[in-house]
Parts: sequence; structure tokens; C-alpha cells
Amino acid sequence: MVRVTTGVHAGGHEFISTAHEDQKFGLSVVAPASPDGHGVDGPSPAMAALLAVVARPELRLLGIHSHIGSQILDPAGFEVAARAVLELRADLAARTGVLVDEVDVGGGYGIAYLPGESALDPAHVATDLARAVAEAARDLGTPLPRFSIEPGRAIAGPAGLTLYTVGTVKPVTLADGRVRTYVSVDGGMSDNIRPALYDAQYHAELVGRASTAEPVLARVVGKHCESGDIVVHEVMLPGDVRTGDLLAVPATGAYGRSMASNYNLLTRPPVVAVADGSSRVLVRRETVEDLLALDVG
Ligand SMILES: Cc1ncc(COP(=O)(O)O)c(C=O)c1O
Repeated sequence: MVRVTTGVHAGGHEFISTAHEDQKFGLSVVAPASPDGHGVDGPSPAMAALLAVVARPELRLLGIHSHIGSQILDPAGFEVAARAVLELRADLAARTGVLVDEVDVGGGYGIAYLPGESALDPAHVATDLARAVAEAARDLGTPLPRFSIEPGRAIAGPAGLTLYTVGTVKPVTLADGRVRTYVSVDGGMSDNIRPALYDAQYHAELVGRASTAEPVLARVVGKHCESGDIVVHEVMLPGDVRTGDLLAVPATGAYGRSMASNYNLLTRPPVVAVADGSSRVLVRRETVEDLLALDVG
């Protein structure tokens, strides 16, 4: 497939559409302007790549691919991108007679990280996208393509949670007089880099025991030597949260383990599958021997 950029960017609640793309992925569907600024100067980089593939008998063009962003909560961006890809497909067919079978608009389907947050509903998105693709294909006078998507986070994210053990607990009085309780845990940015990398927001719950203590404003932090090593920026936790308690952070199944590191030589935690009251280790806990195994001499 040829990866194209349609000018549609999405993430969070909004999507934006711009002609030009300033990013490393994909080839633009926008043709370069002619030197006089009144027309176009040859095919777009995407079309040039498609034409080059079609011209080479040793290559088989399977489809056109786009991926507009991640954690998208407004499905309109997918429809705009799908139409742009279908237009490119129709243009290629008009130029060469080659009608590519497959159109793939990638992933990015947003999930809920915090209580009360809404996720994209796959059934709705699928219905709306199918309609938008059918409309675009009809408008362009081209047969329907095989249409595919690549949901990553939407599958893996909600399926996982991270279980931490509380280390030290420290109340800090802020300048405005509020008290924030720092709750440290036995992990952090090495098992979830997203808060430090994207300011991603997570939730935490005390699990393993019930507490009726008055909730306090808390910040869950890791054990790394970085003050930005934050797991949850702000969450209300029972005021008696203490060393040895278990904290669960939901929706960490995507971009958690896969982005994990051994920073500060922390060993990565195991991955345990849990269902119907039983559990099974899928990936065992890393050991110091694992860390030293690559050392030479
Ligand atoms: C080409 C492509 N497809 C699918 C995905 C999955 O995205 P998400 O996990 O946001 O659904 C990515 C993520 O970067 C991607 O680059």
C-alpha cells in the first residue's frame, strides 16, 4: 500500500484539515504549486508514488493507506480522510485504469481514560464510515473498495490495567493552602511514559481493601529520578491511603508495556491475563539477570 497524507489531523475532540503536512509520515495528496502560483506543477507526491508503483511489474499495488492521528473522539475526521483517499483512488483509475482494491484509514479510535469520559462507539463509527465511503464512491462513480481500519488502542487499551503497590505517602501544602498528597508507587514512567510524554491523564483507584476515609487530593508518582515521573496528575484517593496498598490504574493496555523501558534499571512487570476468577501469566516479570544478560565481559 502507499501511505498518503490527506491533510486531516485528528486527536482528542477536534479534527483539523490543512492542505500541507509537516510530518514524517506519508506522501501528500496535494499537488505542488506551479512556479507562477496559478496552477499545479505535476502530480502530488502521493500520486507520483502510486504511478511509480503501477509502472513497475514487480510491485503489486494493494491499496491506499492513511492514518490521521490517535485518541480521536470526533469521527468526522475519518470520513473526510476516507473521501480524500477515495478521490485519489478515482484519480489513479482515471489516469491508469488501475482501480486499487483496498482503502485503509488506519487507527486512532479514542477510548475513555477517566471516569465519565466517553469513547467512540465502534458500531456507530463503522455504520457512519460505511455510509460515508459508499456515498463518496457513488459520487465519484467508482465501485466500492474493500475498506479496512487498524484499531490499536481501542482493542488493547481498555483490556489492560496496571496494578501498583504504594510506597511512601507525603502530604504537601500548596501555595494556595490546598494539600496535595503524593502517593508513590513501585513503577512509573518506565511502565507508562504517556503522562510524561503527552501529558496524558489517567485515573487511579484503591483496590484490595475498602476504605471509608474522606477522599484527599492525590498525585500518583513513580520511583524514577525525575520530578515529571507522574502516573496520575490529580485524583481523589481515600485519605488513609498507605504503604502496601494496591492501586489500579485503568486503560493502560495500549502504549504502556509496548513503550516500557528499563530506565533506572527497573525491571518491567509481568503481564497477567485475568478472566472469570482465574489468572495466567502471559509475560513473566523481568529479573536483574535479564537486565545483565546483554552485558559483555
Ligand atoms: C499506521 C497506524 N495504524 C494504526 C495505529 C493505531 O493507532 P491507535 O492505537 O491510536 O488506534 C497507528 C498508531 O500509531 C499507526 O501508526
